[in-house]
Amino acid sequence: MLLNTTTGISTSKVLLVPYSKWHVPQYHEWMKDEEIQLLTASEPLTLKEEYGMQESWRNDADKLTFIICHPTQNPYPYDDNAQVSLSEEDDSATRMIGDINLFLKIDDGEEGTLEPVVIGEIELMIAEKNDRGRGFGRAALLAFLRYVIAHEGEVVGEFVGKDEMAVNVKKKALALDAEVGEGEGEKELKIAALSVKVGQSNERSLALFESVGFRRVTEEANYFGEWELRKMDLGIGGVEGELEGSGVKGYREVTYFRLSPTSFASVVDQNTFYMTASSQFEKRITHLMRAEGLTPWTGMLTSFLPPRKIAHK
Ligand SMILES: CC(C)(COP(=O)(O)OP(=O)(O)OC[C@H]1O[C@@H](n2cnc3c(N)ncnc32)[C@H](O)[C@@H]1OP(=O)(O)O)[C@@H](O)C(=O)NCCC(=O)NCCS
Repeated sequence: MLLNTTTGISTSKVLLVPYSKWHVPQYHEWMKDEEIQLLTASEPLTLKEEYGMQESWRNDADKLTFIICHPTQNPYPYDDNAQVSLSEEDDSATRMIGDINLFLKIDDGEEGTLEPVVIGEIELMIAEKNDRGRGFGRAALLAFLRYVIAHEGEVVGEFVGKDEMAVNVKKKALALDAEVGEGEGEKELKIAALSVKVGQSNERSLALFESVGFRRVTEEANYFGEWELRKMDLGIGGVEGELEGSGVKGYREVTYFRLSPTSFASVVDQNTFYMTASSQFEKRITHLMRAEGLTPWTGMLTSFLPPRKIAHK
């Protein structure tokens, strides 16, 4: 979805950044690993297909995704309200450790007879083996939960606004409202539950999700040997408490913006120009951002190129 195109989430333990084109080569390397394919129930893709998947994660209204990185190297006092600025090294290939996704779907029961609700299915991967068991999975999951819960209306709004099936659900919900005489007001569609599917032998993942309030929904694992777990309590207070209890400090949503490498190269060449004619440089960046489907913002010039890059060119 487009909601998080220019949003990063910074904490003392992990940094989450929107999955973008320049992350694809490293992501593709991870997915060659057979153990990862097994644990995440994924098929290997070609590099070209992986680029296609990245685009679909960016543009499809039913998908929200972040790349998990080590925390920003420009540490800030995590327990106050200091401004956070990211550098382009913060999400370079060597800083990337995994990914976390939400896939929205409509659940109206096996027979299709229940009132339709929106379910958000989570997928989490700490790809680098050396990084597992060090608290990154927990930190990423909690930061992501906080983001999803805090932005629930926007997440569901983008989904029901663009997804064909979800639009029908919205219409159905409105019709139900009218039938029972609940007035003209639009029925608010919320995330009814977050869910995750975990292989029955994946004890670490089961322990992690159960420890943050996900519960198994059936007595036995399904035909594919997976448990489905769901979390119904989507109060933000609980997640904030879990973040604090896990020692994850300084949750901040920060502006994330990178031009694609080609556009970036052409902008860097303009740096000399910037020193003498910043307004024209800004126009150039504005133009490139619009060409990439992004919205320029006030003050972006100072926030998007690291000062040393501008000064030393
Ligand atoms: C499952 C996964 C996401 C967990 O992330 P992680 O960073 O390794 O886990 P964390 O270090 O945050 O530990 C989370 C919890 O897992 C449990 N755990 C950690 N190491 C464990 C181990 N060796 N055995 C069993 N449980 C373990 C603990 O309950 C821990 O909680 P704690 O912090 O209270 O001790 C990660 O290991 C992973 O991506 N594995 C490969 C792909 C995968 O299995 N994805 C999940 C598909 S649903």
